[in-house]
Amino acid sequence: MHNDTSISSRLDPARIPSHVAIIMDGNGRWAKARGLDRSQGHQQGVETVHTITEAAITLGVKYLTLYAFSTENWNRPDAEVAALMSLILSSMEESLFMKNNVRLLIIGDTSRLPDGVREAVLRLVERTAGNTGLTEIIALSYSSKWELTEAARAIARDAAAGRLDPDALTEDDIECRLATAGLPHPELLIRTGGELRLSNYLLWQCAYSELYFCDTYWPDFGREDFCRAILDYQQRERRFGKTSEQVADGALGIAL
Ligand code: IPE
Ligand code: IPE
Ligand code: MG
Repeated sequence: MHNDTSISSRLDPARIPSHVAIIMDGNGRWAKARGLDRSQGHQQGVETVHTITEAAITLGVKYLTLYAFSTENWNRPDAEVAALMSLILSSMEESLFMKNNVRLLIIGDTSRLPDGVREAVLRLVERTAGNTGLTEIIALSYSSKWELTEAARAIARDAAAGRLDPDALTEDDIECRLATAGLPHPELLIRTGGELRLSNYLLWQCAYSELYFCDTYWPDFGREDFCRAILDYQQRERRFGKTSEQVADGALGIAL
């Protein structure tokens, strides 16, 4: 067992991923294990969001994308959806974002959100637009299939209007129509809570991300766990389809 200091001291500050995406899972099971209501697990999960946001800032992560509510989560019991919505509303604390110089972005189908929640999150996106520290992207009423369907619709519209030649379509034409247009792709995707699946999250953007799964429930996930995930990431070789030798030569600046 390494303590917090030894894990963070083993990190290479030059190779901190610039974009980390997280599937924050396990709030309900955390609560159940303590005889609490699921909503109390979500409440504790908000504390973890603060902890990990501050850890990301300290470590020099530039973009943090958090899965807060999926398209599929609309199918949960009404009371749980309502509890989550009111928690999201109360966690949109402007002073905290300002104090930490955090810029907020939202990806997802905001039209499905209750008016009050939509207005509050969009207002905070506007208010924090000038912040220059961490960019925190909250996936809210988000799923990859929703996002890709929207992009397909936009492309079809542009093609039908003669603004886009279908035969000349490139990956960039898709990329620039995603909710994450202009943002770098995550180098590292973390899922807490023990499930080994992506649950409709950033499928395009994580096409080449390093995946890290851990059993820890989100409310228990701390700075130390976050550093451990990054350390694990730093020990991997990202080959992008090339051979290990090519990657080593590339690192020395030799053209391949
Ligand atoms: C993740 O925790 C938070 C949301 C999906 C909103 P869960 O609520 O999925 O917790 P488990 O997976 O049931 O433990
Ligand atoms: C994924 O977690 C969505 C969020 C973390 C917001 P879920 O708990 O909803 O995913 P499944 O049901 O295990 O796939
Ligand atoms: Mg879950």
